[in-house]
Amino acid sequence: MKLVLASKNKKKLVELNTILNQLGIEVCSESEAGVDIDVEETGITFEENSMLKAKAVMEASGLPTIADDSGLCVDALQGAPGVYSARYGGEGLDDMGRTRLLLENMRGANGPRTAKFVSVITCCFPNGDVISARGECPGTIAFAPIGEGGFGYDPVFFIPHLKKTFAQLSAEEKNAISHRGRALEAFKVKLEEYLKK
Ligand code: IMP
Repeated sequence: MKLVLASKNKKKLVELNTILNQLGIEVCSESEAGVDIDVEETGITFEENSMLKAKAVMEASGLPTIADDSGLCVDALQGAPGVYSARYGGEGLDDMGRTRLLLENMRGANGPRTAKFVSVITCCFPNGDVISARGECPGTIAFAPIGEGGFGYDPVFFIPHLKKTFAQLSAEEKNAISHRGRALEAFKVKLEEYLKK
């Protein structure tokens, strides 16, 4: 089975393929499916945005489409950047700029540095069926970036029991505990059930 990924993020594509290939599912990019659209993420929940992206690209490609809407929710920042993680600080910032801004904003915040990554995976089928699953990964915000791997806020997302940030983990180690890994495991179970029907 082939699914289209509603995202332009190449690292997400690799993470999804690593997990879903085990089910015999191949995930291809939007561009491989001949789609080039920018879906406006107007929702205020991960569930809404995940659905918006999967539905729009499914309608444009005519193929079953999977989307991941994910982000970092920091307790001391009242859940920010949350659904705005990719746009935190505005369009002009890259991953490193957003990470620096997060650390700056944390300086003025009191309280614990606890946070969680959230991922909601949604798959929309051309017949109108929808499968959705959520995964979360708790952690804390480091005082400075550490590590070279991953993407986004990985260098400041610290896993206390491993004493490492996400950026210091191998892809396998990250997938085993990450929000996206957990959402995909839950999604895999639901998809297996769906495909049996
Ligand atoms: P989305 O593509 O709209 O779901 O945006 C997700 C944003 O959340 C990304 O651009 C990153 O900034 C952040 N994010 C989501 N998952 C991860 C992760 O696994 N590591 C680091 N940052 C992530």
